[in-house]
Amino acid sequence: MSDTKLAVAQWIQSFVPEMSVDQLAGLIEYPPNPELGDLSLPCFKLSKIMRKSPQQIAETLQTQAVGHPLVKHTIAINGYFNLFLNRAGVAAKLVQEILNAPLRFASSTEGTGKKVVIDYSSPNIAKPFHVGHLRSTMIGNALRNIHEHLGYEVIGINHLGDWGTQFGKLIVAYHTYGTSVPVDEVSIQTLLDWYVKFHDDAKENPALEDEARSWFTKLENGDEAATKLWQWFKQVSMDEFERMYKKLDVTFDSYNGESFYNDQLPGVVASLRDKGLLRHDEGAVLVDLEAFNMPPCLILKKDGSSLYATRDLAAAIYRAQTYAFEKCIYVTGSPQILHFQQWFKVIEMMGFDWHNKLLHVPFGQVSLGGEKFSTRKGNVVLLEDLISQTIAKTKEIMAGRALPNADELAEQVGIGAVVFGDLSHNRMKDIVFSWEDMLNFEGETGPYVQYSYVRTCSILRKAELLEGMSAEWIAMISSEHEAWEEGPAFALIQELVRFPERVQQAADKLEPSIITRHLIDIAQAFNHFYHTSQILVDDEVVRIIRLSIVAAVKNTLALGLRMIGVAAPERM
Ligand code: ARG
Repeated sequence: MSDTKLAVAQWIQSFVPEMSVDQLAGLIEYPPNPELGDLSLPCFKLSKIMRKSPQQIAETLQTQAVGHPLVKHTIAINGYFNLFLNRAGVAAKLVQEILNAPLRFASSTEGTGKKVVIDYSSPNIAKPFHVGHLRSTMIGNALRNIHEHLGYEVIGINHLGDWGTQFGKLIVAYHTYGTSVPVDEVSIQTLLDWYVKFHDDAKENPALEDEARSWFTKLENGDEAATKLWQWFKQVSMDEFERMYKKLDVTFDSYNGESFYNDQLPGVVASLRDKGLLRHDEGAVLVDLEAFNMPPCLILKKDGSSLYATRDLAAAIYRAQTYAFEKCIYVTGSPQILHFQQWFKVIEMMGFDWHNKLLHVPFGQVSLGGEKFSTRKGNVVLLEDLISQTIAKTKEIMAGRALPNADELAEQVGIGAVVFGDLSHNRMKDIVFSWEDMLNFEGETGPYVQYSYVRTCSILRKAELLEGMSAEWIAMISSEHEAWEEGPAFALIQELVRFPERVQQAADKLEPSIITRHLIDIAQAFNHFYHTSQILVDDEVVRIIRLSIVAAVKNTLALGLRMIGVAAPERM
């Protein structure tokens, strides 16, 4: 919430005791047309409580509410109470607030003392890291940064898919195709090739499937040879994942994958049984969810082996005990919506009062020319290929500029383009993957925002202020000058004013794209300001005001880019 909105809400509340300050602040909007005011209180909700027409309420407010230092004048129009702010005062206050504590802008204490668990990325072992995984990784990473900014302690968990019958298949595939391949030549791609081959051959020869099942049983029983192979597959996979995470600058606090919960599964099953929740169905064990219009949640297969959901139940109970979380967030693709609904319900049926702290954050699918990615068919765009192509293209575009750290920069810009593109749509939207869109350096893209940031840096560098501003300098910013009130300058200030609200919304809706899109808004408003207002003018008062706006923009872009996991280079 912006300070100004809150201050105005407080003030209005003294005339509307029927409402709380928070309720009023929640109602206050930004009028789409600045000629109608800087803030607007729609009086329709108040109308029901106060038993007067919205327009009557707006008019009464207009006569009563006078004399606030931040408010110049007000109007009552069509049931709205609109306020014209003392723009210079509001703007100077905001900019000074940002420059005095750059890292604290848009932060809050709502999360102080509270823990949030975020389960993100969580790829499956022995399958390559593809563009689909990027979404979970980057949405989760952004949610992590956003929550940390709001004061929460975040525990990032990579719930690796390191258990399940596919490891039996992989062991058979290794024995069939892999024993002659030198160990250090085996990459995740090799594992994938074996896996794809296994599936092709198993179509002709179903006995292979039985063999795979029996190897998985061996693995479950701790067989030494099976365990060794499994560990090796895991290591080969982890090496590749780590390389990606390093490139993407993403970290985790725990890599406890599915296998971590193996020894906790019997306890979970016993507890389900004690609570009378289990039903036997043709040898399988399940929890009936018919009363909730859902298919049953499978707990044990006919052969007694556990399932994905069984392991998720165990993991959630473990996390609740270990972290006492305020929220436990799961970031996966939308095809898993039912899976999460089912086992969240089972947790509720088990009587755990924290069941409503479990949140699934689904996202739309990435498709390739209309086709879904499928590892089995080997039809994937590998993230590594995508990134190296993007970097190559970025290098081409930037080749004319003599930049000292060209390679590092091309990585920051190239990866930034991919990540920004990924986070710029509402997360539920399906993405049709196209190299061209990701690599488009014009329009509403990461490089555009990065370039705007670079521009703020170069202006400040010229003014010898890039390294930051002293308290004396900040104190020189005049709060009474028409330079604040000019259209492009104030429109830009309004975007900065909204930043804290956007961060809050992004956290409430678990939707990082709110920040991504707002960064575009700020960058566009900044570029408009830059093209219409000369910054390094002779008039010192005006120069300081404009430089302070540029510095506030620089800071806000840096904060926002960092939140969504995109680098902010100072030159490009
Ligand atoms: N490994 C799963 C996949 O790649 C995602 C796991 C998500 N986390 C969880 N606790 N189920 O689809």
